[in-house]
Amino acid sequence: MPVFVPLETMSVYKEVYGNAPELISSAPGRVEVIGNHVDYNGGLVIGAAINRRVRLELGTNTSGLLRLISGLDARPVELPLRKTLLPLKGQERWANYLLGVIKKLQELGLCLESGINLAVSSELPSGAGLSSSAALEMATAVAFNEWAQLGLDTKTLVQVARWAENEFVGVPCGILDQGVVGFGQANHLVAIDCRKEDFHAIPLPPDTCFWIFNSGKKHSLVDSFYADRFGECQEALSLLRGAMPGSSHLALVTPSQLEEFQDRLPKTLARRARHVVEEQGRVESFMQALENGEGWDVTGPLLSASHASSRDLFENSIEELDYLVESLIACPGVYGARLTGGGFGGAVLAVTSPSFAEPEGRAISHSYQKRFGHAPQVIRLSPDEGARTDPI
Ligand code: GLA
Repeated sequence: MPVFVPLETMSVYKEVYGNAPELISSAPGRVEVIGNHVDYNGGLVIGAAINRRVRLELGTNTSGLLRLISGLDARPVELPLRKTLLPLKGQERWANYLLGVIKKLQELGLCLESGINLAVSSELPSGAGLSSSAALEMATAVAFNEWAQLGLDTKTLVQVARWAENEFVGVPCGILDQGVVGFGQANHLVAIDCRKEDFHAIPLPPDTCFWIFNSGKKHSLVDSFYADRFGECQEALSLLRGAMPGSSHLALVTPSQLEEFQDRLPKTLARRARHVVEEQGRVESFMQALENGEGWDVTGPLLSASHASSRDLFENSIEELDYLVESLIACPGVYGARLTGGGFGGAVLAVTSPSFAEPEGRAISHSYQKRFGHAPQVIRLSPDEGARTDPI
């Protein structure tokens, strides 16, 4: 089992800047529990913030420079504050998640004059589909909101963070990641109506365990097929609108409407649309079951069905993830398993009873290693609090 360095030992600010930070914020990663590629299609999604966090330390300097460093071997960045912030390229690209948020906050009243030092540390694996990028964005948003006393509410900060990802980093993601990272609570799931941008917490059924099996195959939203899938969904909706002019979002198309009009779509687009429409149905069944007090024996299979749909219809899975899901759902104590996040690599989420423990995780890890030549990273997680400022 991998051992993570506890976040407390990872402060880099003092080491680099020589004094103590003035403010510290942190934001969790997230798992997408169900609702795959439904957010930017205007549907309902469910996620949970997790107990692995990104931390941001903030202080001032008198050089007129914005300085950013990261404990993650990323190249340090220095920019004059009087210049308009623009996206960086190459090895400095990691800073765009922070710069995008700062730029949007400047439009909303943030005034930076003398100079700012920022230091990032993280216990979140990047490229695993656990939203280290949204965590960085939300940690930045919360830090500056507090430091400059901007008084913005959580929903606005979530919108700022999404703006940074869409417009500054250039990924056309929906609001799932930033919403879950912003509104997460310990022992709760976060449900988001993405069309209304409405967020609420749902208590987690007792004795729920979350496990992440990270395939180690790098998931990079910026370079991946994510934008292609986004475009395909847009195109499917626009073709369906020919028959249903009032249709505003693909996730709101009903299964019977899709059945009736799917001949208007080329075969690939019909598969993508079916995934979104049926996934929306699974999220609704999931919510309904929780409201009725049902347990994971009822909701867990919806997760596995979601994975099958990602694999066969949305085609955003990979062999490694399929193997992990199949091995996991054959294992006693596993309620359901599925790829979590954008796909095309990254990690599988398994929801289990407490009877699934390290020996079971290790057995799956060994068989995976035999097959693919490297072990997956296995992490047991629990739902945690969203982005916040922390004591210094
Ligand atoms: C990524 C995106 C989210 C969402 C998921 C897929 O995590 O950032 O907005 O689209 O993929 O559901």
